[in-house]
Amino acid sequence: MRIKDIVQHSNAIPRQEALSIIAFALSMTKEETISCWERELARDQTLYIQKLLNERAHGKPFSYITKNKEFFSEQFFVDERVLIPRPETELLVEITIDIINKKADPLYIVDVGTGSGAIGIAIAKKTSHRVFCVDVSWDALCVAKKNAMTHSVTGHTQFVCMDVLEGFKKGKCLDVIVANLPYISSDEWASLMVDVKDFEPSVALQGGVDGIEVYRRLCYLLPYHLKENGYIICEVGGKTHEKKVRELFEATGLTVQTRKDLAGIERALIGTWINS
Ligand SMILES: C[S@@+](CC[C@H](N)C(=O)[O-])C[C@H]1O[C@@H](n2cnc3c(N)ncnc32)[C@H](O)[C@@H]1O
Repeated sequence: MRIKDIVQHSNAIPRQEALSIIAFALSMTKEETISCWERELARDQTLYIQKLLNERAHGKPFSYITKNKEFFSEQFFVDERVLIPRPETELLVEITIDIINKKADPLYIVDVGTGSGAIGIAIAKKTSHRVFCVDVSWDALCVAKKNAMTHSVTGHTQFVCMDVLEGFKKGKCLDVIVANLPYISSDEWASLMVDVKDFEPSVALQGGVDGIEVYRRLCYLLPYHLKENGYIICEVGGKTHEKKVRELFEATGLTVQTRKDLAGIERALIGTWINS
């Protein structure tokens, strides 16, 4: 079959996406793929491409097909063991790096719910600080370690399996905690896109009945772990979720600021014990 015929027959997915998948399968750029429009493909190439297009048509996310996602201008390996890092999460990395740069060395930094390691690894790479990356999922930590190796940050990252901060010794030792934890409530779960609900790990998404169950546990532990002049930066999913997590944090005694993402959606909470 010719590339042109494959694209024309793949009606179930947008043309640009079909082209990207064909380009990936043939290890070519999209431009090269278009310039070979009339090229007759070998049977095994055609079958491989059709398999990938069929997977995409059934909802498998593009990044799980290519096993790659760009985050904070870096390439990360991803598969079904981890959430695909979202562009809006880059805001957390920006805020955290700003805070780290204003503090004196050495710092004790933790990325809670590291998943693919995107947040912790990006911070370790840009600041050269040591980052503890924790997750409740062993599978996710395997992916994160693989990414740490690719990014040559194994020397200043550590990967630990634990439930939020449960494994750390109490004693207010942590300078910076960054967390993107699951925050989908039971009601929201039902209306999620198939691409997300059926393919991404539910442990990365489901935040209990009200969507704040994991944040509640994290918040409970903050007084034992976050230094007096420390900061917690966490992702929230819009106004309602922001309000719920803010209330949790304020009830613990934190002063909280909110930052919106580029789309104007409440996306990050910054908490500190310091009254400003
Ligand atoms: C929304 S994903 C975020 C992944 C990654 N940090 C990112 O931003 O792309 C949430 C992550 O938290 C992890 N997680 C869920 N419950 C947890 C818990 N109780 N303690 C630690 N990690 C948890 C999940 O396994 C998942 O990797």
